[in-house]
Amino acid sequence: MSDVLELQDVSVVREGRALVDQVSWSVKEGERWVILGPNGAGKTTLLNVASSYLYPSKGTATILGETLGTPGTDVFELRPRIGMAGIAMADKLPKSQTVLQTVLTAAYGMTAGWQEEYEAVDEQRARAFLDRLGMSDYLERRFGTLSEGERKRALIARALMTDPELLLLDEPAAGLDLGGREDLVRRLGRLARDPIAPSMIMVTHHVEEIAPGFTHVLMIRQGKVLAAGPVELELTSRNLSHCFGLPLVVEQVGDRWTAQGLPMS
Ligand SMILES: Nc1ncnc2c1ncn2[C@@H]1O[C@H](COP(=O)(O)OP(=O)(O)OP(=O)(O)O)[C@@H](O)[C@H]1O
Ligand SMILES: [Mg+2]
Repeated sequence: MSDVLELQDVSVVREGRALVDQVSWSVKEGERWVILGPNGAGKTTLLNVASSYLYPSKGTATILGETLGTPGTDVFELRPRIGMAGIAMADKLPKSQTVLQTVLTAAYGMTAGWQEEYEAVDEQRARAFLDRLGMSDYLERRFGTLSEGERKRALIARALMTDPELLLLDEPAAGLDLGGREDLVRRLGRLARDPIAPSMIMVTHHVEEIAPGFTHVLMIRQGKVLAAGPVELELTSRNLSHCFGLPLVVEQVGDRWTAQGLPMS
């Protein structure tokens, strides 16, 4: 299987501090990764490298076979091959556009604009992705009026629009209520188990948000990798406690995960 992402000794240094610290990590085609780590651990920074929007200060990052910062790599050709859904993206999108327009513009590599003639086939695709995310009733709603959960689902539909080879999700379930979270986990689980769906990397703070079908976990703390490998091997109480810096017990319940702190003695 070919590498979708290959990081070798990647550091991102800002103001003398390594936000990502000598990370070596490879994601193979078809794998679905979860990134876990506390606030400020460097998860979003790492995802920004994986999306080609941030170049490493040190080390090499190869995304879909293209190495960042080398003469042969054109990031403008690379970026449409990567789907990204995160809070930063939501802020760039015009609030007055409809949900359907918001998803459609992704096909043309832009965040705004409705003057273009859109192909009927693109509109069909946009409708199909929105349907898959349970957003068919919101096609004509203005993006800016959506609730947190609705916005998150629209952004995932948008990220799928370019038919990406790599899908990056930054805390897709953050801010959702329990029903919204469970609905999203179910939909992500369906996507994760779909053999023709793109390789996926999802950042989360909560093991409860890991959908069945996710295969691997990367744990980071203070920019450093603590554990990386198959979920069933690496998602242990020991690793999670180390990662979040407190004693935790992680349990598998059916095909889902839960974690809780040990009672104070
Ligand atoms: N441009 C920057 N200059 C300096 N520090 C930065 C910069 N961008 C991010 N940081 C810092 O880098 C650290 C890692 O940030 P990052 O956003 O990657 O964390 P995260 O793991 O995504 O956290 P969260 O769970 O809160 O989203 C944080 O301490 C943040 O304040
Ligand atoms: Mg973050």
